[in-house]
Amino acid sequence: MTDPAFASRRAPAPALVADSPAAAPSPRRTRTLMLGGTPGVAEMVARGLARDENLDVDFRPHSLADYMTRADADLAGVELLVFEVRPGDDTDLAVIRELKRHFGDALQILGVTGDALTLATARNLMDAGVAEVIPLASTQPQMAQAAPLDDAPDMPATQGGNGHNGMILAVAGAAGGIGTTSFALNLATRLAARERKSTDPAPRVAVVDLDFQNGVLGASIDMTDGGAYLEMLQGQADPDQPFLDRALATYGPGGFDVMAAPVTLAPLDAMTPDLVARLLDTLRTAYDHVILDLPRALVDWVDAVLARADRFFILGDTSVHTVRQIRRMIDLYTDDHAALPVEVVMCREKKPGATHLREAEHFLGQPLATWLPRDDRAAGRARDHGQPLALAAPRSAVVRAMGPLTEAVRADFANTSRRRA
Ligand SMILES: Nc1ncnc2c1ncn2[C@@H]1O[C@H](COP(=O)(O)OP(=O)(O)OP(=O)(O)O)[C@@H](O)[C@H]1O
Ligand SMILES: [Mg+2]
Repeated sequence: MTDPAFASRRAPAPALVADSPAAAPSPRRTRTLMLGGTPGVAEMVARGLARDENLDVDFRPHSLADYMTRADADLAGVELLVFEVRPGDDTDLAVIRELKRHFGDALQILGVTGDALTLATARNLMDAGVAEVIPLASTQPQMAQAAPLDDAPDMPATQGGNGHNGMILAVAGAAGGIGTTSFALNLATRLAARERKSTDPAPRVAVVDLDFQNGVLGASIDMTDGGAYLEMLQGQADPDQPFLDRALATYGPGGFDVMAAPVTLAPLDAMTPDLVARLLDTLRTAYDHVILDLPRALVDWVDAVLARADRFFILGDTSVHTVRQIRRMIDLYTDDHAALPVEVVMCREKKPGATHLREAEHFLGQPLATWLPRDDRAAGRARDHGQPLALAAPRSAVVRAMGPLTEAVRADFANTSRRRA
């Protein structure tokens, strides 16, 4: 705390840090949302908050400003918002002012920070409407020093070469909460389903959560990593075939395998270009379709992914901001990978009329064939059942709209396999 005078004028903060004693239970718990983008720090605060029996804590791994731009942002009923202060970044201030304007005293806002704040920063936050800024003892997440992969043997990339068998299908969102992870799981479900009249064995399908800082993919279908993924990120396990046997588990109801994110938060740069390249090269020798749920953050290892991708799905919607972001992603990723087959999938929207469609296609330089409508009921059912939407609500318009895309991937795979046979 930089200015005790400020603190004393405001309501006392609840117990925040991990080792604070829990307060006496009260009959009604304060609905609390913790937002923080720094692994370790945010996690520790959320754990500490959850120990306070007066608080009913929800945690989202996003900065305040990022969270508020998300399609799934939801502050309804939240009484206490705790967010990680990002010194030097003013975007949160405008959001705080807006929230205070909207919710007034119904919403208390607290900032927490592991860094020393200047008095000016603290004052700005409080002027914007933050009740208090609470310093944390600096915490060093365990994984922040994930061991570099020193002794990894040099393995050549095998794109298109020996052993290339499966297709790599990369999936990335142009906006947070747009439905990327749901799409990856639905695609896996659809691809793993044996075609009705086919006598061929069911395709081997794997879904890999490369958005491992979020770790939502496994959690949404009740699957967790047994420790192998973390070992790989720490440089203690090579992504070879025996590793796949440990790191992937079969999701029975869907008939596909899942590599779920580690339980412990890991920084995105614990993955390296070499590591992801070797992981993908092993995966595609073992599976027919390897679906990758990519993080939104720009990471240096995404290049190694795109160099191997047979399809790159970018998910977005027609809001101006997102369309621009899709365009930027296409430009950025195809700059180095001119042959990368990009396919834009529009989410939570029905196909618009011809004029709008033409405009969007013209701006993106892409045909927009797939439009996945919004279906809150099916999405809710999927969440309640801990299943991919394609399993929980197979007749949903969302699933039907994925039909042509799935068939195109299947046909591509069949043609490639025939050519190689
Ligand atoms: N077509 C849809 N209609 C309505 N809700 C949907 C639809 N698709 C997904 N959702 C819901 O939207 C929320 C976010 O979905 P999801 O986790 O797949 O998004 P994401 O883009 O992967 O998010 P993140 O940026 O956190 O990775 C989930 O609650 C999901 O159930
Ligand atoms: Mg996701």
